Amino acid sequence: MPVDDPFGAKPAVLRCARCGKFVDWEEAQVQVVCGCRPHLDLPPVLVREATDSDRVAARALFQRDFGRTKVVAFEEVMDIDQMPALVAVTHDEPSGALAYRVHGDALHIVALATDPMWQRSGVGGYLIAEAELLARRLGLRRLVVATTNDNLPAMYFYQRRGYRLTDLVPDSVIRHTRQTVAGFAGIPTRDEIRLEKRI
Ligand SMILES: CC(C)(COP(=O)(O)OP(=O)(O)OC[C@H]1O[C@@H](n2cnc3c(N)ncnc32)[C@H](O)[C@@H]1OP(=O)(O)O)[C@@H](O)C(=O)NCCC(=O)NCCS
Repeated sequence: MPVDDPFGAKPAVLRCARCGKFVDWEEAQVQVVCGCRPHLDLPPVLVREATDSDRVAARALFQRDFGRTKVVAFEEVMDIDQMPALVAVTHDEPSGALAYRVHGDALHIVALATDPMWQRSGVGGYLIAEAELLARRLGLRRLVVATTNDNLPAMYFYQRRGYRLTDLVPDSVIRHTRQTVAGFAGIPTRDEIRLEKRI
């Protein structure tokens, strides 16, 4: 049986790097650019363990990004709501969130989302850096994360930050959803892609 449509349809969650408009997963595209985009002076980002009120905002972010609060990864269905989370705050407003759990010797990044308003403002990078600090404090040796074959921005984002591809689980998404959903740039979402960073 499909598990509560865990991969569901994804709503608009990305922001166009050229015009700034929000864009649906299906309509988004990858573009090759040079280093012409200037570094912008943006407001500072504070990252903290989510408080009860932060969790409401984090839930809304995940719900918007993933269309649900359940995710399937590493052959498990997880409710992001039940996971500890880090939240990023920009201008006193939650701008991003990262849900995690300890999974064996690794800190598993279960979900990561930046409000499209604040994408390309360092929010995702700060959240990942804080998760890595947390993993070190907990004495863990690795961070792991799972994404899907269509999510090229996530594969780019993580590899730029030292994560390496470790596994491809063919048809993992289809096995759980019993359907093929169009993902980033209309690419069918089929497979789970796993990455890790050793620390
Ligand atoms: C993937 C995702 C989390 C990235 O978050 P983000 O907050 O935009 O990430 P950052 O701002 O830290 O980095 C993005 C880019 O902005 C750039 N950037 C950051 N601050 C900047 C600034 N002040 N000026 C100019 N560029 C800046 C970074 O350099 C980076 O580009 P690079 O990797 O080419 O160097 C976000 O796109 C997202 O929420 N996607 C949808 C959900 C998703 O796919 N999650 C991952 C699956 S688990």
